Parts: sequence; C-alpha cells; structure tokens
Amino acid sequence: MADLAVIGLGYVGLPLAREAARAGLAVVGHDVSTGIVNGLNQGRSHVDDVSDADVSAMLAAGFHATSDGAELGRAETVVICVPTPLTEDDGPDLGPLRAAAGLLALHLRRGSLVVLESTTYPGTTDEVLVPILEESGLRAGVDFNVAFSPERIDPGNVTFGMRNTPKVVGGYSALCTQRAAAFYGKFVETVVTARGTREAEMAKLLENTYRHVNIALVNEMARFCHELDVDLWDVIGLAATKPFGFQAFYPGPGVGGHCIPIDPNYLSHSVQVRLGYPFRFVQLAQEINAGMPMYVARRAQDILNSEGKAVRGSTVLLLGVTYKPDIADLRESPAVPLARRLQELGAIIQFHDPYVRTWQVGGHATDRVADLDAALRSADLTILVQQHAAYEVASISGAAVRLLDTRGRFPTSATVERL
Ligand SMILES: NC(=O)c1ccc[n+]([C@@H]2O[C@H](COP(=O)([O-])OP(=O)(O)OC[C@H]3O[C@@H](n4cnc5c(N)ncnc54)[C@H](O)[C@@H]3O)[C@@H](O)[C@H]2O)c1
Repeated sequence: MADLAVIGLGYVGLPLAREAARAGLAVVGHDVSTGIVNGLNQGRSHVDDVSDADVSAMLAAGFHATSDGAELGRAETVVICVPTPLTEDDGPDLGPLRAAAGLLALHLRRGSLVVLESTTYPGTTDEVLVPILEESGLRAGVDFNVAFSPERIDPGNVTFGMRNTPKVVGGYSALCTQRAAAFYGKFVETVVTARGTREAEMAKLLENTYRHVNIALVNEMARFCHELDVDLWDVIGLAATKPFGFQAFYPGPGVGGHCIPIDPNYLSHSVQVRLGYPFRFVQLAQEINAGMPMYVARRAQDILNSEGKAVRGSTVLLLGVTYKPDIADLRESPAVPLARRLQELGAIIQFHDPYVRTWQVGGHATDRVADLDAALRSADLTILVQQHAAYEVASISGAAVRLLDTRGRFPTSATVERL
C-alpha cells in the first residue's frame, strides 16, 4: 500500500511527490512517459525545481515511478496532476485528464481519496472526473472521496514553495473537503477550505486571469507611454510606494508559460459555451498580450531604422528565451513569435541563454552564441527578452551596440532604449 499516488510527474506532480515523501508518506508516481518514469527511477529529475539529489532522497525514502495503472489501486490517496492544454481551436483539452481518470476508474479502491490539481474550468471535477470514476461502480462521496485543489506552484520561486503557500481545497461533499484538507495538512502549513469544488476551481482561474489582465494593462500603457516619452517603469515604481490598493505588474515582450496564456481560455470558453456571452476582459487581455511580440519587433525595426539600417540582413541578438527568469522552461515563450517575426523581416537571429542549449524557431535550430561579449559587440541590435539574474547590467550595456530592454532593467542612454 502507498499513502499517495501522484498521476502526472511534471512541474506540479513531482514537487508534490517530493514534499509528501519528505513528510514521511509512502509515495508512488505514475506517468505515461516511460522516459520520465525510467529517468526518475534512475535518480534523474527533468523538472527545474527538483534536483537529482532530491529524486535520490525520494527513492531512498521508498518512492518509485511507474506506468502501471494497477499501482493506483494500492494508494490511499490519488492526486491527478496531468496537463490541461488547449485544443486547436483554443478550447479546453481534457484528453489527458479523461485518460488518467479512466485508468484510475479501472483500479479505484473503496475508501480512497481522489484529488484533482490540474487547472480547469469550474464544474470539471463534478461533471467530468466524478462520472468517469463512478464507471468503477463505486459512488463519489459514499464509497470514495473526491476534491479539487488548485496547484499554486511558481517555478523558480525560492521564497514560496508547496509547504508555505496556502492550499485551497474544495470537496464533492463536506466530508470530502474535510478529508482532503486533512491529507494536505500533513505537509502544507495552511489549508483553506472552499465551499465546494467549483469555488476551488474558479479561485485558480481568478488568480491567473487577474495576472493576465493586469499584465495586459501595463503592456497597453507601455505602448502609449513610449509615444508620450514617459518612463513606465519609473511610473510603476512610484505607484508601488502606495502601501495599499496597488500591486505592481510590469510590461514585457508578451506572456508565456503554461498558466497565463492558457488558463484564462478555460474560463472564457466555459462562460461562452454555457452562458452564450464573452468574457470581455480575458479577450482584451489576450489580444494585447499576444500582440506584444509583434510590437517589440516593430520597436526593433524602428531602432535599426534610426541607425540607417534595414532589418533585412541585420544581426539581432536575443538575450534570454525562456518564459520566466532563472529557469529553463521554454513553454509558450514570447521569444518564439518575436524571433519568427524578425526572421520574416529578414533579420539574422542569434540567441544567448544560460539555461538553454538548443532553441528551435519555426522548426529550425537558432544560432546560439557562446561568447556573449563578442556577440554583443557585433550584433546590430540586442534585445533583452528575459531578465535572467546572470545578466550583468554594466557589462551588457557597455558592450551592446544598441540595446532594446523589454524588462526595464537597464538605465536608458544613447544606446539603450526601454520598451
Ligand atoms: N507548471 C506550473 O507552473 C503550473 C502551476 C499551476 C498549475 N499548473 C497546472 O497543473 C497541471 C499540470 O501541469 P504541469 O506543468 O505539471 O505539466 P507537465 O507537462 O510538466 O507535466 C504533466 C505530466 O503528466 C504526464 N501525463 C500526461 N498525460 C498523462 C496521463 N494520462 N496519465 C499519466 N500521466 C500523464 C506527462 O507525461 C507529464 O510528465 C496543468 O493543469 C497546469 O495548468 C501548472
């Protein structure tokens, strides 16, 4: 018997398995990828926030990874952390969730607790997960417990991890909530109970939509502040001195990662399909944020033009191509549409990123520079796309011929321009 089985050992599932193992729980991990299963069983991590040493410690504590569904039937609690991507037409793709739930239903044990952590639209737990699990012949809330608990993991965040970030839990019934809260209480300091599964599902979407909308607000402001010759980063710094009622968000070259560009679609899609009207804030935020790579490309074009250079034939060096600073995650990175646009205009693209060895744009490997200083001195234009801590302001601004800073890290000068 295992105390916990985690289905989906990615950015969310693996840190959860580690935290539970650290708390002394007997943990088994399940994943459809044999590469991931074999790697973990050999002590190799594929997730930024989990080191190989962490995996070795987990293995020493009895953890193992498997693709065998039968092992799910031997766990007291099963937590589902599979991906929830978008379909071709930007709707929710619950394929991985349905597949995981279907496999679990074949092995579901009376008395077990099943928790869904994958981000999804409100109603998924009760209307999609529960019916699939009940194909086992067991009844939710009677024979087994079900809850939703949104994941709040923030890859690369060294201050807030799973243990000290409050965990929201909403059950299929009051008893389901209690049981799920008791489970997370074993390794999370603060557990917050929701009225039900829908409130817990919606809370996660509110958090991500709030970020999406506020980032769009400053991105739109960045455009007209440039026209008005107002330094928006200075403005945000000033506004942020107000100790209440304001939270700082910063403009950038676009939003990336699995959450911000994708999760609000789950909400807007469910509002549109169920209620027949659009979620206008999300639509607008999407339009503005998705337009930022094109806007940055246009600013690059303007800078080169002011030097008497065409984009065609110019060398443009992109610094940092991941979607967040100081991690290796490339998912949905706005660096890709930016590079693609500049290539369309005829630029020769080079990139530098301390976390990325190879980077594909439009199916082709991009030229990675090894000697940053030499590349800065020879590129016609350098664009800071991601502000990795390793990038030193003085040495980069001293060497770059022209620099477009999309992150507000560099003081403006004759050769440095901010977004
Ligand atoms: N990454 C984040 O920062 C983050 C933060 C909060 C919430 N979330 C949400 O958590 C969920 C998981 O995201 P992630 O970033 O961990 O994804 P991920 O792609 O890193 O990992 C998902 C894992 O699930 C496995 N998988 C896919 N289908 C499966 C199946 N049917 N059975 C078993 N395993 C399967 C994949 O092989 C992969 O290893 C998503 O809903 C995401 O929106 C992610």
